[in-house]
Amino acid sequence: MATVISNELLADGVYHLQVESGQGGEMGQFYMLRAWDAYPLLSRPLSIHLARPDRIEFLYHVVGEGTRMFAELKPGDKLQLEGPFGTGFPHVEGRIALVGGGIGIAPLYYCAHELPDSDIYLGFSREAFRTDAFRELAAELTVDVGGLILDSVDFSEYDHIFVCGPHPMLKAAQLKWIAAETSGHRPNVYLSLENRMACGIGACLVCSVSCRDGQRKACADGPVFLAEEVIFHD
Ligand SMILES: Cc1cc2nc3c(=O)[nH]c(=O)nc-3n(C[C@H](O)[C@H](O)[C@H](O)COP(=O)(O)OP(=O)(O)OC[C@H]3O[C@@H](n4cnc5c(N)ncnc54)[C@H](O)[C@@H]3O)c2cc1C
Ligand code: FES
Repeated sequence: MATVISNELLADGVYHLQVESGQGGEMGQFYMLRAWDAYPLLSRPLSIHLARPDRIEFLYHVVGEGTRMFAELKPGDKLQLEGPFGTGFPHVEGRIALVGGGIGIAPLYYCAHELPDSDIYLGFSREAFRTDAFRELAAELTVDVGGLILDSVDFSEYDHIFVCGPHPMLKAAQLKWIAAETSGHRPNVYLSLENRMACGIGACLVCSVSCRDGQRKACADGPVFLAEEVIFHD
């Protein structure tokens, strides 16, 4: 069991949770967390917001029963932390953009630490959060509230673009990657697909992703996939 260091409310329903742990992890990987015994049945996946030698940080949005129980955690409380799991973002070089939408900014903070010369684009539908923390790490920071953050990103300026956000944003990033062919320069676009999960370890197929080479598992083969690999059905 891991011990909660802090669990701070940052914005409406958005919390920054810090937990004592030396388990670490890579950028884009996730943990399965539970702060209860039997109900809900399943642990809940959260991306690594930052991994330090003595702690793991998470950023989460309260959407249902499990995350509501996370929001009740106080310093000193215990929770179960399994991981790190998944295949995350690669360590790359060149011109890099990190593009996050809403709570999708969570895994990009770790990327900003690991890839400190990146340009960062953060989009929010109503209220911005964690922007000051990102500003300290960004070569350049662009924040948008109420619009479409992807509209601010010129794909021809970058070699690698990491995207995490709601499903329509990921699909729009893929379309933008396809359209970039006409500019003569197409970056590598990596999408973090936070599909619903059950086991988190590749055993149940709940997180199945349609890819050009067949069905793959978001929890083990991903959650990060190249934009060109994924087939979006809706
Ligand atoms: C790899 C991965 C990393 C994630 N990282 C983060 C993170 O860093 N921060 C964060 O806040 N959330 C993250 N999520 C989403 C998070 O796991 C869910 O919000 C959480 O499991 C919901 O649990 P709940 O019991 O509160 O809500 P539930 O009662 O299970 O669901 C409440 C509502 O949320 C919807 N929902 C649940 N899970 C998802 C999902 N994965 N995608 C879209 N809608 C969903 C349900 O359809 C339902 O409408 C991640 C998911 C994955 C798969
Ligand atoms: S969540 Fe079970 S296989 Fe991915």
